[in-house]
Amino acid sequence: MSKKILFTRIYPKIAQTQLQEAGFKVTLRETDTPFDHKELIEKSKEHDAILCTLTDKIDDTFLNECSHMDIISQFAVGYDNINVEKATELGIPIGHTPEALNEATADIAFGLLLATSRKMFHQHKKIIHGKWGSFTPTGDLGIEIKNKTLGIFGLGRIGMEMAKLCKAAYNMNVIYHNRSRNKHAEKTLDATYVPFEELLTQSDVISLHCNLNEGTREIFNKDAFQKMKSRAIFINTARGPVHNESDLINALQTGEIWGAGLDVTNPEPMNPNNELLQMPNVCVLPHIGSGTEETRDEMARMAANNIIEFYKNGTVPNVVNP
Ligand code: DGY
Repeated sequence: MSKKILFTRIYPKIAQTQLQEAGFKVTLRETDTPFDHKELIEKSKEHDAILCTLTDKIDDTFLNECSHMDIISQFAVGYDNINVEKATELGIPIGHTPEALNEATADIAFGLLLATSRKMFHQHKKIIHGKWGSFTPTGDLGIEIKNKTLGIFGLGRIGMEMAKLCKAAYNMNVIYHNRSRNKHAEKTLDATYVPFEELLTQSDVISLHCNLNEGTREIFNKDAFQKMKSRAIFINTARGPVHNESDLINALQTGEIWGAGLDVTNPEPMNPNNELLQMPNVCVLPHIGSGTEETRDEMARMAANNIIEFYKNGTVPNVVNP
């Protein structure tokens, strides 16, 4: 009998096509909203595997009730929505989609850096609100990033792409902090490993490209922002909970840092009345790092392939479990 796969969201068509061509029975999601948790569990009980994403909470409750799952395939590189330890205990493999979104996400980090340094979103809002006065020699000026120091927190695949862009476009000096040394980056980008404290004190721009885990949760807090340069720009395209939002607001208000560009917030979606959205030196996007047609197609292809290969050969090509 063919295996039943539940799609928790509307994914690019290629995922459905690949799975159906391989003989799976796919249950599609009709509306482009996440299931509520209870409904997700109930629906998953009727399926052998799910294709899920970061808006689905695959927590203890889910895993206890759906311990029959053959495989959980995540449409994302990050998987902090999934209790991997518990899934591993239950023998459920977790697939994800690394590599596919490196360039697209780095583009957004780079775009946010440029937009923030020149207050682009604020300037755009001025036009919309009829506040474009005359050319002003000194009003609302930005700052330049050319030749400055870029500090990458988490120099993996995406961080590497961001560093490449910043180096090529603005000859930035790259320093980084990571769990382990990235010799490739040191060789090809002349990147220098520094302790966390030095990353904070030396960087003109700090860009986050780490996973969210207990070691990184709110690591960018009051203490960290206080150590950063007063002209520093903070970019987060990783996960919202890596920074503490009220500490970030405070750091921007008191001038401890100069600006912030965020593609991720905590919670998501961000409340439209959030103070950050009123600040001239802040640019916020709604978690669109991987959001290009090409990248999302590739993620869908990989997520479907993780399921197909698992059933065919017993191995998941891009597996998360240790
Ligand atoms: C990821 O893949 O983890 C991104 O946040 C969404 O594509």
